[in-house]
Amino acid sequence: MAKIILASHQKGGVGKSTLTYNLACNLKDNAKVAMIDVDYQGSLVKISSMSEVPIFTIDKLDDVLKDDYDFVFVDTPPYLSEELPKLYQLADAIVVPTKAGIFDVLAMEDTVNLIKEHNVEEKTVIVFNMIKPNTTLTEEIKDQASQYGLKIAKTMISDLVAFGRSVMEGGVTDSNNAQRQIDNLSKDIFTILIKK
Ligand SMILES: Nc1ncnc2c1ncn2[C@@H]1O[C@H](COP(=O)(O)OP(=O)(O)O)[C@@H](O)[C@H]1O
Ligand SMILES: [Mg+2]
Repeated sequence: MAKIILASHQKGGVGKSTLTYNLACNLKDNAKVAMIDVDYQGSLVKISSMSEVPIFTIDKLDDVLKDDYDFVFVDTPPYLSEELPKLYQLADAIVVPTKAGIFDVLAMEDTVNLIKEHNVEEKTVIVFNMIKPNTTLTEEIKDQASQYGLKIAKTMISDLVAFGRSVMEGGVTDSNNAQRQIDNLSKDIFTILIKK
């Protein structure tokens, strides 16, 4: 049975599609991986012709789950879509990316509430994305985020040109910072998968 890793946040621009794509590409040489795009505006589906990892629309979810994939990464739209409750139950891990501004952290609240409403906190992890290189999170941001009572990934993802380019280039591939961060984030997610 495939492990399902879902990216969720009701806002756009936080990195759901970018992280989904890079996490999926990161495993493609070691496992059988697919992506599902729930976004009808279809960020990922639009680039499927250049992706080595197959990208399916949500209507193919059941077929994909019947297939022998090891990992299925699910990207969701920038609003609280009606598919989310079902996907929250199905998922083995839920990744909630956020930028590290105080308003960004406050803006997670609707997603966090939906996660709590469906009792899926245990498999959820907040991931700080687009962190300015050579900066750390302020205490204020850490406090604000920890008030949600969810896990926060040890790995933070920097704001790097490589991530912007990654979608055209099959994911971050070089041995630079971006690749190392995606490796480490994969390990953070594996920790959740193991505990399930
Ligand atoms: N870590 C990052 N470093 C640099 N740019 C990023 C990073 N994460 C996302 N981006 C850029 O931010 C924009 C929004 O990211 P995207 O993945 O589309 O967010 P979402 O799917 O949540 O709407 C895109 O232009 C993407 O290239
Ligand atoms: Mg997106």
